[in-house]
Amino acid sequence: IVEKITKEQLNTEEGKKIIGQAGDFLKEGGLVAFPTETVYGLGADALNKTASTKIYAAKGRPSDNPLIVHITNMGALDKIADIIPEVAYKVADAYWPGPLTMIFQKTEEVPYETTGGLDTVAVRMPSDEIARALIDAGGGYIAAPSANTSGRPSPTKAEHVEEDLSGKIEMILDGGAVDIGVESTILDMTVTPPMILRPGAITKEMLTELIGEVDIDRTLITPDSKVKPKAPGMKYRHYAPKADLSIVEGPMELVIDAINQMSAERMAKGHRVGVIGTQETVGRYKADVVKSIGTRADEATIANHLYAVLREFDDAEVEYIYSESFAAGGIGSAIMNRLLKAAGHHVIDA
Ligand code: TXA
Ligand code: MG
Repeated sequence: IVEKITKEQLNTEEGKKIIGQAGDFLKEGGLVAFPTETVYGLGADALNKTASTKIYAAKGRPSDNPLIVHITNMGALDKIADIIPEVAYKVADAYWPGPLTMIFQKTEEVPYETTGGLDTVAVRMPSDEIARALIDAGGGYIAAPSANTSGRPSPTKAEHVEEDLSGKIEMILDGGAVDIGVESTILDMTVTPPMILRPGAITKEMLTELIGEVDIDRTLITPDSKVKPKAPGMKYRHYAPKADLSIVEGPMELVIDAINQMSAERMAKGHRVGVIGTQETVGRYKADVVKSIGTRADEATIANHLYAVLREFDDAEVEYIYSESFAAGGIGSAIMNRLLKAAGHHVIDA
């Protein structure tokens, strides 16, 4: 079932009925996809191991890749997390509810099926009102990975979820397009100083300003395949478009020339070529499919369109994609992290 729902509807009879039905599916051990402020999630009761196991099957996800448990209030944290350092409360005060996940030692309440066999648990308190209503209706502890088939770009619209999971899950709540477009920042609170395992909208700069020193998992910034990332999910070649994606780096004029030249060479050999540019440059490319991913004047727009654009290229059936590169720092770190993963770390120096 696909049910459209808006934030405004949540307080109406109709809205309560839809959320009630979705919550019942979750309580019975079923799967419900729902919008969050980051990407769409595929929810199941996190404290029910059979329910968690179904998530892996529906997504085709490796069983060693742990799930994030979603809650709506600080009271819920104690039941699933042990040893919560003082600094975690400071981070929670500032950025929960919001696009941030923290990792703690888990309690016995959390089954290993939910944590991919780990003794730690990832916890997030989303801000999206539809997500929050569903979590409460579903019992308060909802495991939710991104609602895509494993290996595909994360879904930022309900249509993306339908493409990937239609027929495999009980229900999809269609709350329209998400706000942010890349997954939450993951911060490991079991180490000192806390370590970023996945960059997101809550940036390293924001966290450092709040709590001082923060590390970043170095495998996120170096494409060294011998070092295992600390978040198991980060080792997979996620977000992969069907086409061969390359990121082109360098001064903008050189990047534009290099992309046009490589595109022309590929097209001369009969290949279909796509280019990912920005509002500022999109008019300057010549290829079969040219798309703007957003404007450099506001990098949040780039994060917001990233996954949808990768999916559109899949639909356009191009064989090669050349993308501009984005500077690290702020939300740019999250954008580059996802792009690099989609490109299998294939970077060309213009
Ligand atoms: O924004 C988000 O976080 C979205 C929405 C739906 O909330 N969820 C999401 O979940 O991105 P998923 O499963 O696609 O990504 C979870 C990431 C994976 O890379 C996983 O390995 C990591 O979190 N993770 C989960 N539990 C962990 C743990 N105990 N230790 C280290 N990494 C963990
Ligand atoms: Mg995911």
